[in-house]
Amino acid sequence: MAVVSSAHSTIFSKTSLFHHINGFKRFSFCLPFSSSAVASLSSKKKWRQPVASSVLELGGIKIAKDDVVRDDPTNNVPDTIFSKLGLQLHRRNNHPLGILKNGIYEYFDTNFSNMFHKFDDLCPVVSVKQNFDDVLVPADHVSRSYNDTYYVDSQTVLRCHTSAHQAELLRRGHTHFLVTGDVYRRDSIDSTHYPVFHQMEGVRVFTPDNWEASGLDPTSYAAEDLKKSLEGLARHLFGAVEMRWIDAYFPFTNPSYELEIYFQGKWMEVLGCGVMEQEILKISGRSNSVAWAFGLGLERLAMVLFDIPDIRLFWSTDERFTSQFSEGQMGVKFKPFSKYPPCYKDMSFWINDSFTENNLCEVIRGIAGDLIEEVSLIDNFTNKKGMTSHCYRIAYRSMERSLTDEEINDLQWQVREQVQNKLNVVLR
Ligand code: DAH
Repeated sequence: MAVVSSAHSTIFSKTSLFHHINGFKRFSFCLPFSSSAVASLSSKKKWRQPVASSVLELGGIKIAKDDVVRDDPTNNVPDTIFSKLGLQLHRRNNHPLGILKNGIYEYFDTNFSNMFHKFDDLCPVVSVKQNFDDVLVPADHVSRSYNDTYYVDSQTVLRCHTSAHQAELLRRGHTHFLVTGDVYRRDSIDSTHYPVFHQMEGVRVFTPDNWEASGLDPTSYAAEDLKKSLEGLARHLFGAVEMRWIDAYFPFTNPSYELEIYFQGKWMEVLGCGVMEQEILKISGRSNSVAWAFGLGLERLAMVLFDIPDIRLFWSTDERFTSQFSEGQMGVKFKPFSKYPPCYKDMSFWINDSFTENNLCEVIRGIAGDLIEEVSLIDNFTNKKGMTSHCYRIAYRSMERSLTDEEINDLQWQVREQVQNKLNVVLR
């Protein structure tokens, strides 16, 4: 379960430009998967939903494929990511993510007499201003890089967090709201990271009459209400668990915290939150207020609540997965339908200065799609001439069937060829 607790933890909590784990860059999230190679595999039907038409309607906005995927240096959105737009797993009441979303709604509706306005259909294509500037993400923050975020053009991205909607909703006059949506991040590949996942954002605004009677200063008042509200939410989802608050850093809140619960024998991060930076309220026309905000990853919690061992399963349309969940049934434990054997392939190459693991994973997922379970760096050295070699181990494993040697070998050959051609590395 150790890996589960790392599923898409908050990116913005890190001030440093790069976050290394075990000496390797391991910053954010993961990657897409391709139509072409996967199309030839019989499992494709089950894993992917057909894109009904090349024009989608997202949150009332019509988007054509050419609007999002373009052959242009400022664009890094692959077809495979476009194919996920509009699927909105969080709006399916029989899907673990929809069940969890509804469970959280239920908590807020019951405890705050339906005060919270709910949004779950806001368009995921947002401006750089909405995604970063409006929530005070510094100009040099790593999350803004092309390596971490999907850019539609230099001023437009696929939102990488639901915080992208905070300022806009405040400006529209909302004071209590929950925003659920699909979010997009380039990343490396393992069982808890996928390039599209789902978050819920919550915001509550207070006016002077709220805190004046309390005898507390506005920030302490908001922080106290925040903690009380979110402890209640954690109990609603996880039962009578032990909890602790960890001081954190986010550009959009001050003070900032993470809530952890003691669950199944260890401490697990549930969400990030804090008292909203005054600057955000100010630019949103609410200078006279204080507010709290939180953000949580739905997959991360659903994997634990429903015992779902691999993040790829959320996208499965295999009946053996989908039939196990139904509306309102929170926390029903997933029964794995036999585990098929993995197949490992290693590849070594000399990297160049522009090489990144996120780009590597994008290429690999572009070929083998959801047959890729994990890509891990298993060897890394620099020779006397200063050339650096990386060896990656690729784990291929289907959730639904046994793979044949032949198809894995075929995929691996394509991977080798494309890694060499697209990333300009030298295979060893
Ligand atoms: N946007 C953050 C992330 O994706 C999560 C988050 C943290 C949202 C703290 C918040 C907050 O509103 O207050 O990493």
